[in-house]
Amino acid sequence: MTRKLITLMLAGVTSAGLMTACGSLDAADQSAPAETQTAEADMVVAYEVVDGAAIPQALTDQAGDPDNGRAVAIHRKKGNCLACHILPIPEQSFHGEIGPDLNGVASRYDAGELRLRLVDPKVLNADTIMPSYYRNDGYHRVLKDFQGKTLLSAQEVEDIIAYLQTLKEQ
Ligand code: HEC
Repeated sequence: MTRKLITLMLAGVTSAGLMTACGSLDAADQSAPAETQTAEADMVVAYEVVDGAAIPQALTDQAGDPDNGRAVAIHRKKGNCLACHILPIPEQSFHGEIGPDLNGVASRYDAGELRLRLVDPKVLNADTIMPSYYRNDGYHRVLKDFQGKTLLSAQEVEDIIAYLQTLKEQ
């Protein structure tokens, strides 16, 4: 299978929030994140990518909540980051290794760089299989219910950034 086809399939699956292929993540539901509405297309917060490297400006006025960010990150219908990344979350048995280990990620990137990597990682690598969690266009195979919506709300993105910022190198 070509890399492109895999990319399309993953984009479709994660956009729909149904990582059914990863049934082993069932336990993630036990730590369900606070319910926040996923933004409608016309409510998407405008953001500015600076120098193709970062989104320095926070998407919301409310400071990110690292505890909710952790919950959103591991929830398989929200961030589902464990499908592709290792995180310091021992109660979850499955950690993917498609993406880099996120231990110590806050020592590698500042908040603005982390924000760009969540909002639209395709700015940095057009071929990445990492989903764009806040960009709201350009998907190829989105289920009807999810058309015009971002994968996460602006506040959920800020909460995950706050959580990632706790992951400093020991
Ligand atoms: C479908 C797989 C996939 C999912 C799901 C995913 N990522 Fe990624 N991520 C990647 C890949 C692959 C990379 C490597 C960058 C690239 O492809 O250019 C990456 C890179 C990153 C980076 C940069 C790490 C570094 O050391 O350079 C961060 C930060 C990150 N991801 C955070 C997250 C978070 C947080 C989530 C959940 C909200 C998430 N990712 C979900 C695949 C994924």
